[in-house]
Amino acid sequence: MRRKLVVGNWKMNGSLAANAVLLEALQAGLDADSGVDSAVCPPAPFLAQCQAMLAGSPLAWGAQDVSANAAGAFTGEMAAAMLADFGCKYVIVGHSERRACHGESSELVAKKALAALAAGLTPIVCVGETLAERDAGQTFAVVGEQLGAVLGLVPAADAARIVVAYEPVWAIGTGKTATPAMAQEVHAQLRAQLTDKNAGGVQILYGGSMKPDNAGELMAQADIDGGLIGGAALKAADFLAIIAAAR
Ligand code: PGA
Repeated sequence: MRRKLVVGNWKMNGSLAANAVLLEALQAGLDADSGVDSAVCPPAPFLAQCQAMLAGSPLAWGAQDVSANAAGAFTGEMAAAMLADFGCKYVIVGHSERRACHGESSELVAKKALAALAAGLTPIVCVGETLAERDAGQTFAVVGEQLGAVLGLVPAADAARIVVAYEPVWAIGTGKTATPAMAQEVHAQLRAQLTDKNAGGVQILYGGSMKPDNAGELMAQADIDGGLIGGAALKAADFLAIIAAAR
């Protein structure tokens, strides 16, 4: 039985003061024995705050991006080893906002996943189709190529160390969620692709307008192992309710 994992993607939100309130509320509400893995991914300047406030708590933390390079003349980038220094367990790679706004290709995302693994981090590899791609019947081809780039580069022995997040681009921040059946169909394909690489036990999260009122139904699907949560991760009560729904 795969454990469920619920990850908050704070995107470019937060402040030292607001985060302190949110993290305290999350810690107060989290049950160490819930059997559900959980993490928050704040903007990088707040990783030190997470490290200081969350040390020893069941809530892990991670970053929203990482460089494919180990060190050197890459202004503005962050190396995986630096994220590990700040206690990160996870790092999101290939979020659709980075693919769309920063031109990240599947090849670059694969290199980032590789760099994360080399530093002992768990990359959360995001895949997902746009509405135009879905309407054109390309969903399986698109997510298959995005995951395939990572599985093609990562050594076979490490494929089982990744997490995958299926996030239909049209569902992110829009209030539109894939129906549980639509999401499960894509998750099943991703599971088959992972199983081919002996990585069938990888956690596959759903993301895109997951909220307390739809989380339970989505996570009840056979191949949905948790959620990557944007908007609802900024409200302690909502994020805790989603973790509770994962039990
Ligand atoms: P959302 O974002 O929950 O606000 O739709 C999810 C994500 O982009 O990771």
